[in-house]
Amino acid sequence: MSSLNHETVTEVHHWTDRLFSFRTTRDPGFRFENGQFSMIGLMVEGRPLLRAYSMVSANHEDGLEFLSIKVPDGPLTSRLQTLTVGDTILVSRKPTGSLVAGNLLPGRVLWLLATGTGLAPFLSIIKDPEIYERYERVVLVHGCRFVSELAYRDEIETDLPRNEYFGDLVRDKLTYYPCVTREIFRHQGRITTLIESNRLTEDLGLSPLAPERDRVMLCGSPAMLADTTRLLEGRGFVEGSGGQPGHYVIEKAFVER
Ligand code: A2P
Repeated sequence: MSSLNHETVTEVHHWTDRLFSFRTTRDPGFRFENGQFSMIGLMVEGRPLLRAYSMVSANHEDGLEFLSIKVPDGPLTSRLQTLTVGDTILVSRKPTGSLVAGNLLPGRVLWLLATGTGLAPFLSIIKDPEIYERYERVVLVHGCRFVSELAYRDEIETDLPRNEYFGDLVRDKLTYYPCVTREIFRHQGRITTLIESNRLTEDLGLSPLAPERDRVMLCGSPAMLADTTRLLEGRGFVEGSGGQPGHYVIEKAFVER
């Protein structure tokens, strides 16, 4: 039996000329943990061309949703960006990934730190009622160059708090902190600068990040991951994995497309 499901595109949304998202049907047998990714793609010249994509949709939703950048000469995204409703997408039946709740030790505040399309896995996590049972507070930080790239801002700020099943948990526990580096906005600067200066925690009325209390999930460019990891390790945070839960976990935002 093939290890790939064939799903049908049900919706496409272009956020900017560099960023788009799409929804597909979901095979009822496709199970995943919120925060995981799967290999997805298209048939190209008779073979599957696949790349890793985090699920934006939570595992309790009927469909699947993915967020993607558009790389003009990218083997996959140059094709994916022309997707229309009714097209077929291949989805590997074997999701995986390290941004899952079980890889972290118990803690009080969960920080979800993303740049660019690194936001994707955290969208499924903030729709997971269980995450709110594990933490007193969940803070989603999304860093982008421009305000227009703050994808899903309306959904996070307006729709989620009104969700009929878990809206009360979102209202009680979730804080969204969007920040932008290349134009004027209410929060400005790189995530790393905001952590280093303790500006981020001060803005939220919280103490500086510390392994005794805080847990962190990171998803962004290799440079963002390297710099943030260095900062966290400097404060005594230890990376977690499936075998050994820790204070923080990381996943590369997948951009080689
Ligand atoms: P900047 O505008 O200063 O480069 P990109 O679209 O290049 O992935 O960037 C997304 C966001 O991540 C931008 O706001 C960018 O800031 C920021 N960024 C880039 N490199 C780093 C890094 N090493 N640490 C933290 N943030 C970064």
